[in-house]
Amino acid sequence: MVTLLRVCGIVGYVGHRQALDVVLDGLRRLEYRGYDSAGVAVNAGDALAVERKAGRLANLEARLDEVGREGFAGTTGMGHTRWATHGPPVDRNSHPHSDMTGRVAVVHNGIIENFVALRGELEAVGVEFASDTDTETAAHLVSRAYSGLDDSGTKGDLPASVRAVCRRLEGAFTLVVTHADEPDQVVAARRSSPLVVGLGEGETFVASDVAAFIEHTRDAVELGQDQVVVITRDGYDVTDFHGEPAPVKPFQVTWDLSAAEKGGHEYFMLKEIEEQPEALANTLRGHFTEGRIVLDEQRMSDQDLRDVDKVFVVACGSAYHSGLVAKYAIEHWTRLPVEVELASEFRYRDPVLDRDTLVVAVSQSGETADTLEAVRHAREQKARVLAVCNTNGAQIPRESDAVLYTHAGPEIGVASTKAFLAQIAANYLVGLALAQARGTKYPDEVAREFHELEAMPQAVQQVLGTIDQVRDLGRRLSDSRAVLFLGRHVGFPVALEGALKLKELAYMHAEGFAAGELKHGPIALIEEGLPVVVIMPSPKGRAVLHSKLVSNISEIQARGARTIVIAEEGDETVRPFADELIEVPAVPTLLQPLVSTVPLQVLAAEIARSRGYDVDKPRNLAKSVTVE
Ligand code: AGP
Ligand code: GLU
Repeated sequence: MVTLLRVCGIVGYVGHRQALDVVLDGLRRLEYRGYDSAGVAVNAGDALAVERKAGRLANLEARLDEVGREGFAGTTGMGHTRWATHGPPVDRNSHPHSDMTGRVAVVHNGIIENFVALRGELEAVGVEFASDTDTETAAHLVSRAYSGLDDSGTKGDLPASVRAVCRRLEGAFTLVVTHADEPDQVVAARRSSPLVVGLGEGETFVASDVAAFIEHTRDAVELGQDQVVVITRDGYDVTDFHGEPAPVKPFQVTWDLSAAEKGGHEYFMLKEIEEQPEALANTLRGHFTEGRIVLDEQRMSDQDLRDVDKVFVVACGSAYHSGLVAKYAIEHWTRLPVEVELASEFRYRDPVLDRDTLVVAVSQSGETADTLEAVRHAREQKARVLAVCNTNGAQIPRESDAVLYTHAGPEIGVASTKAFLAQIAANYLVGLALAQARGTKYPDEVAREFHELEAMPQAVQQVLGTIDQVRDLGRRLSDSRAVLFLGRHVGFPVALEGALKLKELAYMHAEGFAAGELKHGPIALIEEGLPVVVIMPSPKGRAVLHSKLVSNISEIQARGARTIVIAEEGDETVRPFADELIEVPAVPTLLQPLVSTVPLQVLAAEIARSRGYDVDKPRNLAKSVTVE
């Protein structure tokens, strides 16, 4: 099973304490994830008291003080911290979302893929929406089912109403629902998004992560796929989406709070490495419908895409490397020239841009000053800018013509891991959208490429399953003076990314090279015992590259290098030349970076950890470089 992506925060409570206090405490424990708004709902008397605010949790708390917390007296409630995917991070899009009567409140983690169709259906029967989110559709659907306004036959039965709604939703979701008429229960549901139940004395919790309630109880239950739980002060009841009793997994939480925040890992980065399958799946989710690639807020017509006669990718650091990887695919699929530029260099070289130039600005934070200035320069030159960004509503997407969001969830570790893989996938979606609009790929070819991408979360999961070998190698390399990385074709940007990880995490000199460049100078660096990581292409893909790289490895081994080879499983040709062989699953040539990068991330993190460094907060670095 792929690692569940723990984005943002959900807390639900039914018990003997004031729900507002319990919920706010729980949200505070989830604050490390970063988010862009927060909100709460409490069953207060015979109504729901709801408050929500954009920005940090402190903004919500200040708002509650303004309106008076006495209006939130009650022992049933829930809360949410949002990592926006649909709709900018403003008050009206903050959770909880309500129906038109205000008697139902819903909070949600994840993406409801078919919300546009559902919203159209609801608006056709007179429902008025107050937000831009996908989540609000769930609030109206539950309200109509509970009020007997639809054909689900669940009038007056909140769990049955939630189940009926879940059967209609597509995508990934953790939903928590309260109703003013049901002050003794909270109903929650999950599909491909985390949800755990906490069992206390006369009180019960639901949360997206045990960190929200472990100060009250360590008795927990993890819910399975497509399950609905009803919690009351006396306990819980779990069914599937059809109302049949469902199996659950009780467990004892052994982690302390700090470990709980990191999913049991020592560092956020290690958790985020394991979240990569789900980050990829969530980034791809919903972008291929009715046989066509669809981008997010594309705001670019197919004609706009057909008019494109040149592509620039501008970014920094790992985001820049994701552009270098994507260049191979975009040029191959679209036959358009693609230039990948460091954002800090872009506008000073006076690039040739016009309105038929597409500039793709890649940025996890969406706030990187170099990339933002590059976007501004491009737009001054009348080029069209498409942002690839992981942070909804950030400055770079706001100043771009269009945006394609990665859905990697908040990335806390300074070193980019899941965001990097998600950026590659998103850049590939841009390439496929261009190829589709320009006709350089037939619809069936676009479909095939997309479905190959869809298989990558499982391939990455497979790499994660065999990663202990790499951790062991990292411990053995921790005293190395330097490490070189070699690659060809799409393996070359992977070599650059591997070197960057090692530099920024272990403060070790590391350099990535195009393997063909060795003989033009760098081979002079090779000396006895020097570790050299080589990223091998598939022997079945570009055979000529494979054989040339084998020659490169034999050249450096002959000069004493310690060769660490990342190769496709079963690649026996390379085995004699590998002092260490790390096997990754066989994947299509252009998708290889998605599996070969993962061992390099783990290698760098393990060397850093062996050296006693803080893997999440490397010295001299910030997560978002908002200065030029
Ligand atoms: C990579 O591990 C670093 N965190 C850094 O190079 C980062 O990729 C770069 O600063 C770009 O940040 P952005 O994606 O938020 O724009
Ligand atoms: N898709 C929902 C939204 O954009 C939920 C996002 C989340 O996981 O916080 O509001």
